[in-house]
Amino acid sequence: MYASLRSIGAYIPSKKLENADFEKMVDTSDEWIVQRTGIKTRYIADASQATSDLAYEAAKIAIERARIAPEKIDAIVCATITPDYFCMPSTACVVADKLGIKGAMAFDISAACSGFVYALSIAKSFIESGMHQNVLIIGAEKMSSIVDYEDRTTSILFGDGAGAAIITATDDKKRAILDVKTASDGEYQDFLITEACGSRNGCSQEVLDKKMHFLKMKGNETFKLAVNTLTQDVFDILQENHICAEDIDWFVPHQANYRIINAVSKKLGMSEEHVVLTVGEYGNTSAASIPMALNRWYEKGEIKKGQLLLLDTFGGGLTWGSALLYFNGD
Ligand code: ACO
Repeated sequence: MYASLRSIGAYIPSKKLENADFEKMVDTSDEWIVQRTGIKTRYIADASQATSDLAYEAAKIAIERARIAPEKIDAIVCATITPDYFCMPSTACVVADKLGIKGAMAFDISAACSGFVYALSIAKSFIESGMHQNVLIIGAEKMSSIVDYEDRTTSILFGDGAGAAIITATDDKKRAILDVKTASDGEYQDFLITEACGSRNGCSQEVLDKKMHFLKMKGNETFKLAVNTLTQDVFDILQENHICAEDIDWFVPHQANYRIINAVSKKLGMSEEHVVLTVGEYGNTSAASIPMALNRWYEKGEIKKGQLLLLDTFGGGLTWGSALLYFNGD
């Protein structure tokens, strides 16, 4: 028995933030942002929306497209670094309730931008072990809740949104998730960090005054590690599965920076016509980035059943991962 990606769905909030909007907020320019990152717009959730609201909308679409009854879902795994609540309940439990699903295993995972690939790996293991038949995986983020809009080095990068997928059992290897690789290195834990309000630095007025509850990033150091790690990661997964870059229909990298995507694609020998690119439109949506990108290309009619996809991601932790799979959606 194999696991397969049966459907994809996404939700994009309605409020668009253009680069010109940031020119009014911080010392930056459209030219700098486009040249250094490729980002032109990003979408921001309404103040009344929490991560579970975005996740719910994406999950509804994925469930509909998989033509599966919600009660058939055995497990819900939500990847997020911006959960609705600090400790509990998990965002996955809140989503389960919104979907009317009772009794399914539901939990969150924290692997920053790598969250969706980590969730895919968990779902694959559940299905291949025979423990579950249908798993809903979600990558959802309200990054605007941890971004300091006075910090020009981070604020321009991130957007909100959600993506979801149904992972089901199949006996057809040509429709299956072939391999998922996940890894981490905590030595670089301070490259991407929100220093409070966890158990190390509890929430206090001092912490808020020092803006320690906002995301901080060592952008340049992260950039260099990202290019090397992402490239090695895809080389390894292709080699171990005896697959060449030319066999890949779509390369779907984490959408953090156009320059990173371009550098890795070039090293891989992948031409731009086979690279899914949404960073210009959505910015970096962390765990939601890959499923939102997949959904965009699916809705454009570009990603079709039976095509071979290569996912590649990198994020805070540091964490990274890649996946090789045939798309099994209709
Ligand atoms: N507008 C204008 N100038 C800026 C801005 C801005 N928005 N941001 C930074 N600068 C300035 C800096 O202050 C610096 O000025 P200085 O030379 O006077 O000190 C200069 O631009 C260069 O800064 P760098 O940080 O070296 O710029 P770089 O080319 O590295 O681009 C960026 C920064 C876009 C953040 C890039 O490093 C990057 O994309 N890093 C990787 C991000 C990533 O992959 N994150 C992982 C996933 S995210 C997650 O897990 C949640």
